[in-house]
Amino acid sequence: MEVDWIPEFMIVSDLDNTMVDHKDPDYTSLLRFDALWEAYYRMNSLLVFSTGRSQVLYNELRSEVPLLTPGIAIMSVGTEIRYGDTMEEDKGWVKELDVGWNRSIIVEEAEKLNLKFQCESEQRPHKVSFHVTKEDAPEVIKKLTEAYTAHKLKFKFIYSGGIDLDVLPEGAGKGQALAYLLKQFKIKGTTPKNTLVCGDSGNDAELFEVADVHGVIVGNAQEELLQWHEQNAKSRSNVFLATERCAAGIIQAMQHFNFTPNISPRDLPTPLIKEATPEGAIAVAHEIVEFQLLFERWFKGAVENSDEVFQRLKATLLPECVLVNPWGVQVKPLVAIEMARPLYGSLKGKNFRIWIDRIRINQISEEVWAVQFDKWLKSDKELSCRLTSGLLKKKDGTPNGVAWLHIHETWLLDYAGPTPRYVKGPKSA
Ligand code: GLC
Ligand code: MG
Repeated sequence: MEVDWIPEFMIVSDLDNTMVDHKDPDYTSLLRFDALWEAYYRMNSLLVFSTGRSQVLYNELRSEVPLLTPGIAIMSVGTEIRYGDTMEEDKGWVKELDVGWNRSIIVEEAEKLNLKFQCESEQRPHKVSFHVTKEDAPEVIKKLTEAYTAHKLKFKFIYSGGIDLDVLPEGAGKGQALAYLLKQFKIKGTTPKNTLVCGDSGNDAELFEVADVHGVIVGNAQEELLQWHEQNAKSRSNVFLATERCAAGIIQAMQHFNFTPNISPRDLPTPLIKEATPEGAIAVAHEIVEFQLLFERWFKGAVENSDEVFQRLKATLLPECVLVNPWGVQVKPLVAIEMARPLYGSLKGKNFRIWIDRIRINQISEEVWAVQFDKWLKSDKELSCRLTSGLLKKKDGTPNGVAWLHIHETWLLDYAGPTPRYVKGPKSA
């Protein structure tokens, strides 16, 4: 599904070591970003991931880390553009990449040099990839350039992470893929109001060259990207060098460029009962994120163990609200929630977290919103996902001015869709 609305904001982010910090086993900054995006941006903005990974390795990452579902995924170093939950490929882009490209010659000439090919999944129709050391890279690139030029091919090299060498069609790459997307948006009149591109390594450099975008080079960036910045973008105010690592650097850039909101709900204390300030869909999204976050904090003992805090949980459950849980049992959450009271702090020190993905909201009357989202739960033992539908209704005197009227949860089990997450849901209550 292509974009047929005007995004308020678009983030185009690399994954490894930009969105995802592989050095943080708790994924703290990624979870901060997730909450920020779902609470404030999901319903009117566009999240784009631009990764060197193929779909195979991308899915692997999704099964390992709390990665949100993007609106668009640009994979294999800008050689594949895929839309929405179905990951439908942009055929127009494929056609453009065919120009001057001859994959078998690219491979043949590399074989003559005995280069070390990357694994099979990373060899794509418009991407041939090798592992080459920093020392060998200049010589390898020189020899391949001579060979390919002799065949009159149109190609380009991208060197990343001090080890990965990609050969792509001349018109490919993360930057050109983004430029192509922006061109399509322009034709349809759906250009995002602001765009922030985010990266850490060599294959991201092109993203910062795209016209009319802001950019952030995260604090843990690779030498090659910092060098590129030094030589090409030092005096450009639209490219920000973050001091924070990965997703924390992205949030830091949102603050630097004043893209608001830019404070994650995870960085705020749990709001207690107060006058409602947000309105409409924003208030609803807010409630979904905050409500689950408070649960996580309650079980982890990360909030005060007080009636006041527990009252915050209860305040947004209407007395008539029914919850159908994933085992098909109907409960009254306002009653059932009492079971959580003595469980305060029971998951302290455990690797427990809850995060929300794919919030969708439809206002169905002046007072009622229908919502759908994925609720992920991770503990030391398991990862599970509840596909959740619900209704929220206007209610004054609650933190977000709305309260839960209905909740229905279903296990998202071994979901084998186009973007599978290999999830084992609990089999019994
Ligand atoms: C990812 C891809 C790999 C590529 C690298 C740099 O790691 O899996 O094929 O070479 O990004 O672009
Ligand atoms: Mg990276």
